[in-house]
Amino acid sequence: MVEEKTTVDMDTLVSLCKRRGFIFQSSEIYGGVGGSWDYGPYGVELKRNIKNIWWRDMVQRRDDLVGLDAGILMHSRVWEASGHVDSFTDPLVDCLSCKKRFRADHVEDGVCPECGGQLTEPRLFNLMLKTFLGPVEDDASLTYLRPETAQGMFVNFANVLDVARRKLPFGIAQIGKAFRNEITPRNYTFRTREFEQMEIEYFVKPGTDEKWHEHWVEERFEWYAKYGLRRDYLRLRQHEGDELAHYSKATHDIEYLFPFGWAELEGISNRTDFDLRQHALFSGRELSYFDEESGSHIVPFIIEPSGGVDRAALAFLVDAYREEKVRKRKRVVLRLHPELAPVKVAVFPLLRNRPELVTLAKQIASELRMHMMTAYDDTASIGRLYRRQDEIGTPFCVTVDVESLEDDAVTIRDRDNMEQTRVPIAELKDTMVERLTNALDE
Ligand code: GAP
Repeated sequence: MVEEKTTVDMDTLVSLCKRRGFIFQSSEIYGGVGGSWDYGPYGVELKRNIKNIWWRDMVQRRDDLVGLDAGILMHSRVWEASGHVDSFTDPLVDCLSCKKRFRADHVEDGVCPECGGQLTEPRLFNLMLKTFLGPVEDDASLTYLRPETAQGMFVNFANVLDVARRKLPFGIAQIGKAFRNEITPRNYTFRTREFEQMEIEYFVKPGTDEKWHEHWVEERFEWYAKYGLRRDYLRLRQHEGDELAHYSKATHDIEYLFPFGWAELEGISNRTDFDLRQHALFSGRELSYFDEESGSHIVPFIIEPSGGVDRAALAFLVDAYREEKVRKRKRVVLRLHPELAPVKVAVFPLLRNRPELVTLAKQIASELRMHMMTAYDDTASIGRLYRRQDEIGTPFCVTVDVESLEDDAVTIRDRDNMEQTRVPIAELKDTMVERLTNALDE
């Protein structure tokens, strides 16, 4: 086996994702809709795995974080207090000839990138998606689909503090959908109008904020590396002053080298006490913390690691892609970390026209299914079945052959080195659990 390609271009990845059922265009039968994508049977598993390991590592395995699941629809005043109504804007230019609209910072030389026509002066365009609550569409019922999950955590600060009984520093974590009317959704699932965020709001004492900011930048960088992203495809980039969001004192982006260049995977911001002070002001409610040490009320500073599930999924897919030459034939394989792989083991009968093999393979699959995500397949020749599983990143395949009926053993084939080992069926479950666990420790 010779590794031939360790990178992938976007067209190849998009086609693999469609062919194998990771990602489909939204509303495809109607011609598609811009900036929204549907995750197919393997994409939904990949995304769930990402969210599960994030939740496990950031919430369940830590004593200083608790979870929250706030509504997507919130009081419209939230978005006034947060600054989104006034400041969540992109500068746009319109082409006077072809009438297309572009983000001003995506246009070079002041001419239309599509037709070369003259462009208007930039105008500010709010990215929030409007909606109306109740039957009347007037200003009183206007609100927005949340453009970030963060605000749900700020407005619940006092509720969570009451029940979680945590001392500073402590954090709230949330995973959920966010919506932005991006003018130029682009690069597949990288910039979309509907996406999922995994956000932490970590409340700290003022004065300790810079130390905690550094801590979280490192923690989150290592998290991506731990689940397989190559370190030389990851880098940190600090925002320049004019790039900072209205709430931020400092922001570091974790960037990944996508096929279209370095781009943001996650941002870690020092949001200062901006959000709690704004919500206290707009709501009239006290949003502070009683500090026993100093005997006074303080408004915590907030460190916010904010990542996108869809961007993480895209980076993991891109990073895992390999092309190899095996016995003069091309093999495409996704070397996904076993925790991320949509299917952990696939079971096949070597001959699909032998009912005894089919029955035994199905029985083995249904037993394994109780312990790990297992697939059964007998719809093609064994070579094609292996290739299919390689392309979705399944770490192990188990084949039931004629000898299995005699020796009660099966063959396990390893995705990465393609080595085959014979294992008694009675030991299969434990062997698979052990091999998956070993693969996690590697
Ligand atoms: N609460 C802070 C916040 O929302 P952001 O940098 O605007 O900060 C955080 O977004 C993360 O959400 C980004 O790093 C990215 O992973 C994801 N994200 C933002 N906009 C996105 C979009 N249009 N499509 C997909 N993911 C997006």
